[in-house]
Amino acid sequence: METLIPIINRLQEVFLTVGSEIIQLPQIVVVGSQSSGKSSVLESLVGRDFLPRGSGIVTRRPLVLQLVTVPPLEERRKQDNGIKAEEWGTFLHCKNQVIKELEFLILEIGHSECSGSTSYSLTSSCEPINLKIYSPNVLSLTLVDLPGITKVPVGDQPEDIETQVREMILSYISNPNSLILCVSPANSDLATSDALKLAREVDADGRRTLLVVSKLDLMDAGTDALEVLLGRIIPVRLGIIGVVNRSQHDLNTQKSLADSCKDEQVFLQRHYPSLASRCGSRYLARTLSRLLMHHIRDCLPELKTRVTVLTAQYQSRLNSCGQPVEDQSATLLQIVTKFAADYCNTIEGTARHIQTSELCGGARICY
Ligand code: GDP
Ligand code: NA
Ligand code: MG
Repeated sequence: METLIPIINRLQEVFLTVGSEIIQLPQIVVVGSQSSGKSSVLESLVGRDFLPRGSGIVTRRPLVLQLVTVPPLEERRKQDNGIKAEEWGTFLHCKNQVIKELEFLILEIGHSECSGSTSYSLTSSCEPINLKIYSPNVLSLTLVDLPGITKVPVGDQPEDIETQVREMILSYISNPNSLILCVSPANSDLATSDALKLAREVDADGRRTLLVVSKLDLMDAGTDALEVLLGRIIPVRLGIIGVVNRSQHDLNTQKSLADSCKDEQVFLQRHYPSLASRCGSRYLARTLSRLLMHHIRDCLPELKTRVTVLTAQYQSRLNSCGQPVEDQSATLLQIVTKFAADYCNTIEGTARHIQTSELCGGARICY
């Protein structure tokens, strides 16, 4: 995702100058049963440890995580504005008070998940927690971590918990601007995957659904997920990507995300050598980047038209001013022309970049 940041930043400049809406990247929504590894998958994408997860911890409220790219602190210092931290977070429910230590974020999320009434009432829990993370190292993107699909009410959960959670999930994934990341553990039957079933309901032809098969390391001895990963059990148009995230033991012993990513690669090389290059968290991130690139590329023609129209408008206004008296208006014309050329170049350069990175990235879709 990192390679996308400078491209987006450049394009945002163009957008601001021509007064267009800023490109809205699709939001990424994770869907899956409880403990399938949704929070872990999101975390590996963001590269940060702040989502509440673990076998005993249940995501009860949707977490809408908005990532916002900001210039590095050094640059912001020069302009002497803004917050004196490299990255920080704010919660809507804390009146956007700035939290500079990202470790505090997990505490606050945990706290707000549990706060409210002691008896578990889902209706009030449908309210999302809105967290914004500002950092030079993130792509301006929205990720949504949802509660898991449940079948049987436990404890004081309402009888109709299944319907309630279902409705909540549907409300997020029916948004046509949502990319649906279905998470299904390798050690359960894919054919019964509720996540895929829900995704089908809102995205019948699978244009925005991606399947992540988690927990490849937890399969019974003598079984593997090869057939599933090859799409022979259920084909998924945008791809099926197997991952290994941190186990509960890894979390307890505070294994880092970086180490986990390394071990994941080793595991994939050993158990799925033929698929290793098309699996894993890094490949998942690259695939999402590619999907986002496609989205951006689709927005470019319109942007280019706008720049051309604006140029024509300025030209004719300039022409209506009559013959240049001195060389000044020639300079102005040069500025306008250069402006248009620069921005068209940015757009074309971006389109080219998207094409080449597709060719070089070898980001092929696996069926
Ligand atoms: P969620 O409830 O769907 O958000 O799932 P979590 O991300 O909270 O993960 C649930 C439990 O499964 C945690 O204890 C994780 O450590 C563990 N877990 C998640 N992914 C994997 C995996 O790929 N392998 C192993 N061994 N454990 C995993
Ligand atoms: Na969990
Ligand atoms: Mg979770």
